[in-house]
Amino acid sequence: MREEEFAAIRQYLYDETGISLSAGKRDMACSRLAKRLRHFGLNSYSAYLRKVQDGDPPTERQEFINCLTTNKTDFFREPHHFDFLRDTVIPQLRASGRKRLRLWCAASSTGEEPYTLAMTLREHCPASEGWDARILASDIDTSVLAHAERGVYDLDRAGDIPPAMLHKYFLRGTGAKAGKISARPELRELLTFRQINLIEEPWPIRAQFDVIFCRNVVIYFDRDTQHKLLTRFAAQLDPNGFLFLGHSENIHWLADTFAPLGSTVYKMRGGPTRPRRRARCPGPRRAPKRPPRPARRPRLRSRGLRKTSTTSFSATSRRRAARPSSRRCSARAWPRASTTRKRASVG
Ligand SMILES: C[S@@+](CC[C@H](N)C(=O)[O-])C[C@H]1O[C@@H](n2cnc3c(N)ncnc32)[C@H](O)[C@@H]1O
Repeated sequence: MREEEFAAIRQYLYDETGISLSAGKRDMACSRLAKRLRHFGLNSYSAYLRKVQDGDPPTERQEFINCLTTNKTDFFREPHHFDFLRDTVIPQLRASGRKRLRLWCAASSTGEEPYTLAMTLREHCPASEGWDARILASDIDTSVLAHAERGVYDLDRAGDIPPAMLHKYFLRGTGAKAGKISARPELRELLTFRQINLIEEPWPIRAQFDVIFCRNVVIYFDRDTQHKLLTRFAAQLDPNGFLFLGHSENIHWLADTFAPLGSTVYKMRGGPTRPRRRARCPGPRRAPKRPPRPARRPRLRSRGLRKTSTTSFSATSRRRAARPSSRRCSARAWPRASTTRKRASVG
């Protein structure tokens, strides 16, 4: 990959996703995109990028994005956040007399994070006590989103799930599915999956959330993109809402809007739900060096992303990530219950 090809790829990725690839990521980009070049029998990255930009085929733009996102995740990753939900957020809601909880997991990757959230809500917000809890799980990458919707994982990825919860909320595969676990319907019915690009405006969401989890993604964005995104999160949060970021994602520079509660948990400062002020001091930029950034173009259906109509959270099932039926778990392969799912209704 020539230097100018890498520069063009970085720029396009930035425009489409907000991801700032550092200069050191050239080999990574090279190896991840190589399979797409092979797929089309191309011999240069610039020819491939032209294909992506020309929408030839239209689906290639999404393939390009899927190749370049980093999807590392785990069940109960940064476990103190789930303790905080249990010990602070849920009791606070309960004390206020509200038993309605709306949570957005805004970079859900292959699903370990939203399923961990679903286990936490099932344990501590039981429907039998009148709780109405729902989780919107979204990501830009359609292939991880499809994995998340399937809810099937290798058993060896489940080491951080407490054994009692593993037993309660997952089915174990048998026969051809041995070594796999599948999320039970009790978890799935709390979840709505959909593709949302965090830099796309507006988001196709009308719900106000009590909690937004956006962990380990803003680290890939430059300060401008972070600022815009976090300000939009503030507008999407209830005035008493909470924002959870990843362990290295400190936003002290947005102290006007979010008050830190420790361990990368933030609370809305109160006042109007839609913040009127920008942060006074955005602080030093930490963005990698990259080419000058042209104005972003609107992202529309014609460019490959599945554009969703603006709906309330409840209507999200209309557009869902592709789920190849051949990879669905057959009910026979699991000891109990079917894998069919009721769509979450959240409004
Ligand atoms: C490192 S994973 C983090 C997964 C999970 N939140 C966690 O902490 O374990 C980052 C995720 O952010 C997603 N992502 C990157 N840019 C995005 C964007 N513009 N909109 C939505 N998701 C994005 C990637 O596809 C990837 O799945």
